[in-house]
Amino acid sequence: MPVLNTYIKKFCISNNKRIIDILSIFEKNRTNLAVIIDKNKKFQGIITISDIRKAILNGYRNNSPIKDIINKNPIYLKDKVDENQISNIVSSERFNHIRPPLIPILSKNLIPYKIINKNNIQLTSLRTRKLKFKPRILLIGGAGYIGSILAKKLIKIGYDVTIFDKFIYMSKQKIKKFIKSKNLDLISGDSRNISQIFSAVKSNDIVVHLAELVGDPLCEKQPSKTYEINFLASMAISNICKNLSVSKLIYISSCSVYGANKNNEILTENSKILPLSVYAKLKALIEKTIIRNMDEYCRPCILRLGTVFGSSLRPRYDLVINLFSGLVANKKQITIHGGNQWRPFIHVDDVAESIVKIIKIDKEKTNGQIFNLASFNCKISDIGKAIKKNYPKANIKYNKIVKDKRNYKVSSSKAQKMIKFSPRFSLEMGIKELVNFTKKNKIKNLNLRKFQNILNSDRF
Ligand SMILES: NC(=O)c1ccc[n+]([C@@H]2O[C@H](COP(=O)([O-])OP(=O)(O)OC[C@H]3O[C@@H](n4cnc5c(N)ncnc54)[C@H](O)[C@@H]3O)[C@@H](O)[C@H]2O)c1
Repeated sequence: MPVLNTYIKKFCISNNKRIIDILSIFEKNRTNLAVIIDKNKKFQGIITISDIRKAILNGYRNNSPIKDIINKNPIYLKDKVDENQISNIVSSERFNHIRPPLIPILSKNLIPYKIINKNNIQLTSLRTRKLKFKPRILLIGGAGYIGSILAKKLIKIGYDVTIFDKFIYMSKQKIKKFIKSKNLDLISGDSRNISQIFSAVKSNDIVVHLAELVGDPLCEKQPSKTYEINFLASMAISNICKNLSVSKLIYISSCSVYGANKNNEILTENSKILPLSVYAKLKALIEKTIIRNMDEYCRPCILRLGTVFGSSLRPRYDLVINLFSGLVANKKQITIHGGNQWRPFIHVDDVAESIVKIIKIDKEKTNGQIFNLASFNCKISDIGKAIKKNYPKANIKYNKIVKDKRNYKVSSSKAQKMIKFSPRFSLEMGIKELVNFTKKNKIKNLNLRKFQNILNSDRF
């Protein structure tokens, strides 16, 4: 009986197994391709994530046997790999469409012994053992404040990224100008349109969902659209990801779900939530729905972000640190309402960096988990103090009327432990960055439509 070498063994699976067993091979190797063998270890074909997606759409389930869905005629190379064989394959029409870009190599008696990446297909590289496969990433709402920074980061480290967005705040042209890369794909669409979402998810491996009406004032103004987009469309996205066996779904929630915490204790992911606004109530509801909707393979990771600050390709001046810094840059008066409310904060670059970590990390650490993500907790009045310290001429007025009742402090120690969350930006660094950004880009009017979500309520 032939013996499989230890390298190929982890990609191989017997033809009498179930679909769920293949999914765990994908997960272990992070490749989306499994090599199917018979009981004599002979090559029978391959199964990729697209074969599984097609099967599921045709009524197969995760516990169905794999024997009917094997691709028995894939591209492969056979011993001895020579230049003729390679050039025949490379010049074939099918070669351009292989996805994932992986090709099995078999011995002359059809025993698999290696897998190579088609993009490194040279005789010399057949000897290298390292397989490079990067999942394709879909950012729904990727043209927004957080998504655009995340897209830029992912492209920089070599991922293929698709942004699916309604492009409400930033045009396609603008994002193309900021991120020039052939690895970035832009799709105009609406998350409420199931067929558009379905076809976008189908060609990707990991989904980050950021497309919503964001912020209390905007959601209060458009409650039914908020319900459609933030809840119903998010629910559809989670179902589609489950049905298409997407390996990771990352959903961006908010620490607003904690609401008003009178005891001022530090809240963890297990603390009671008390959402106050429409925005926060729907965040709490969709978190619960997405978590309940998980199955053996597609299990979401939910991030409860503190209020974000920092500059972005799509700047926002409707977030408290950004607004105060923008006013300082323009020598305008800052008014602090109340000021004693505690809130968690995180820089936009630290959010993007944490999402990249979750994309890279072993799924078992993030599967079905909720993480608080905040770099620090401070009172709103502390932001005023930090501004005064660095810009003594800043004009700050205090007003006793509390407009925003949210008051909570959160702990991010679970994220520190499990995903090595290690934010770089402090409050003072963020303020200085924002003041300089506002001055450098000569942003004089912070109330332009593109900077303020609330002014776009008619565009959803
Ligand atoms: N910025 C924060 O302080 C903060 C804090 C906590 C959580 N979050 C969450 O992070 C996510 C992203 O927030 P952001 O600050 O980048 O917001 P944003 O408003 O800048 O971005 C949202 C993006 O979604 C797109 N979009 C909205 N509705 C859509 C639809 N129906 N179909 C397709 N695209 C649509 C918009 O065009 C925009 O590009 C949101 O879920 C938000 O609730 C943000």
